[in-house]
Amino acid sequence: MIRYFRQERILALDNDSIGYAVYFNDAGYPETLYFGKRLSDYTDLLSTRGKGGALSYYDMATGKERTFADNYRADAPLEISPHGRSDKRGAPVIVRDASGSFVTDFRYCRHKIVRGAPELEGLPHAHGACETADIVLEDKRLRVRAHLYLTIFADKDVLVKSFRFENIGRKKVRLTRAMSMQLDLPHMDYDLVHFHGRWAKERDYAENPVPDGVQEVSSNLGRSSAEENPFVYLKERGATTDHGEVIGFNLIYSGNFKFRTFTGPSHALHITYGINDEDFEWTLAPGELFDTPQAVIAYSAEGTDRMSQTFHRFIRENLMTYAADRDYKPVLFNSWEGCYFDFDTDLILSYIDDACKIGTELFVLDDGWFGARNTDCAGLGDWTVNREKIDLHRVMAHCRERGLRFGIWFEPEMVNPDSDLFRAHPEYALGWGDPELSLARHQLHLDFANDDVVGNLYAQMKAFLDEYPVDYIKWDYNRIVSEHISQALPPERQGEVYHRLVLGYYALLGRLTSEYPHIMFEGCASGGGRFDLGTLYYCPQIWCSDESDPAQRIDIQFNTSLGYPLSCIGSHVNDSKVAPYATKAALALFGTYGYEMNPNRLTPEEIADLARMAEIYKKYHRAVISDGTLYHLRAPYEGNDMCMQCVSQDKSASLVLFMNKLKEPEQSRFLRLKGLDAKRRYRNTLDQSVHTGEYYMRVGLNLSFSWFDEFSHRLIVITEEN
Ligand code: GLA
Repeated sequence: MIRYFRQERILALDNDSIGYAVYFNDAGYPETLYFGKRLSDYTDLLSTRGKGGALSYYDMATGKERTFADNYRADAPLEISPHGRSDKRGAPVIVRDASGSFVTDFRYCRHKIVRGAPELEGLPHAHGACETADIVLEDKRLRVRAHLYLTIFADKDVLVKSFRFENIGRKKVRLTRAMSMQLDLPHMDYDLVHFHGRWAKERDYAENPVPDGVQEVSSNLGRSSAEENPFVYLKERGATTDHGEVIGFNLIYSGNFKFRTFTGPSHALHITYGINDEDFEWTLAPGELFDTPQAVIAYSAEGTDRMSQTFHRFIRENLMTYAADRDYKPVLFNSWEGCYFDFDTDLILSYIDDACKIGTELFVLDDGWFGARNTDCAGLGDWTVNREKIDLHRVMAHCRERGLRFGIWFEPEMVNPDSDLFRAHPEYALGWGDPELSLARHQLHLDFANDDVVGNLYAQMKAFLDEYPVDYIKWDYNRIVSEHISQALPPERQGEVYHRLVLGYYALLGRLTSEYPHIMFEGCASGGGRFDLGTLYYCPQIWCSDESDPAQRIDIQFNTSLGYPLSCIGSHVNDSKVAPYATKAALALFGTYGYEMNPNRLTPEEIADLARMAEIYKKYHRAVISDGTLYHLRAPYEGNDMCMQCVSQDKSASLVLFMNKLKEPEQSRFLRLKGLDAKRRYRNTLDQSVHTGEYYMRVGLNLSFSWFDEFSHRLIVITEEN
């Protein structure tokens, strides 16, 4: 898969469908020659190198002017641009030493080809059938080594990039920028799609032509954020769901990130992606290493759906570590929107009884069970059961008797000023010497850059888990980072706080998930404020949004699924009155199905509706939604309706969800399906008729007769006729 053509100095990475090629030029810079569909001959690519304009330099040793022998130019497509030389497009890394210089210039030393993907220190990373080129570069003045890792997967159109920096000198240096990758593409005729938003409106679709100059998609909020998601993609102009070049990017990271495009006068496209360099600085002592997070690039020559499908398979097969992910995900009932903080043991027991009637398999007690937590003003940080409020042993026994699993809510990285933890250890919160500490939801952020704090939370959670053997933990994170100052770090290391908070999150989550491998962790951050690949490495599921009303949720669900598999999208039916339960349930079926309501108030008809939907989920989730292939048939950002279709791998079953937003009178409408076997015959539950796969894919499902009220839907099950 990775070959080196010694004579041409070309390194070629490919699998059955994509190819990538790098050339080591005379000056010692790795030039990116090609990224696209697999080629049969990579040695031919030298002719793509531009002519003329070669850089010259003054050679201090000989006092002569020289030109780089093989025509290296300042705008050559590179894997890592130098900083502070003629190339001004934006380097992915800047290192400073005691001289105060900013100039950073890594040149090629050697490379090797190894099996597998690199394992990063303290960071989640990809795994599976792949090969890596480990390209060693050195800045001789700074005495810093850089490993450029390029990993290609055998059975997926995915390339993973990252750097490892190593201080091989005798003096400290400081990284003031340490991004994960650079990718230079020959032209800028792309539209950039990114997903911005806010609480309850996560992952809104935005598409703009790549501009002249700079565009950045980034977060400086301390988490990957609801405001911008790290998943972005480039669509060649005119590309559609099935046609054209699409290049998707994501970062295996949960903190501040920056995706930056730069196009200069030549109109070539220069991309850098990685940790946001705002307020970032990292001291590297002699012998120390710094690993950047991995950037994941998915290439499709056949439109956006192929890219989505590649990400879906990559995340499930090459990222997630939760061993039971390939198993079925249980129907979940969460207590939050039903009773918020206002519950006692009897109420929860009655919830469990009624949740059973609608197919619940996992009951989750959300916020409010610990410390003095009766409102959101107190208690965070004190993870002991409030025994006066709730008898958790009884609740768990009640679940077990009914064959239900039991789960609980935590928010480990936070503290309320009104808590025993904060009263005993005010220094455990971020912020130092500031007369004002910004509160958000009445809480402060714990200093997870401090190992003692992480250790304290570990001990508290372990004590709980050893007494209460739960099956599931919802791990919440309800504020952004501010006053990013750690009392545990010296002044010159305060630039490390943002990244160390993320490392602390991974350290605690990693330790708990490995010590309690059977517990399913679900990520959460005020809804979907930390929906990212770093979290998915540990948590096979993330609560997608606090907004379950179809009004917003149609877009949230569809857009999230462009980059993330449905099997990780935590989705619940709530009790808002915007749409009937069946509609909300149909939407939640295209995710991991659950409930969030007062179950005591359901009418017999509602119970019957929801129980029926839970049966559909149980029957089809694993084979069709989870392991199947997802097609985005109609995008909600393009019109008044949305349609998604999933097909099982053996093509024997498919689920189709059509949903509209505003009311619509009858109109001619045929839904052309995808992914079925043209020759096999299938029955559909829309009108119970039987047709060939070819008919469904060429003629389509006839939705013409229907009058659609606001937020109404059709959930159609297609099954093969024997
Ligand atoms: C966040 C979550 C909710 C719920 C509350 C509890 O807002 O997104 O689902 O868990 O916290 O306080």
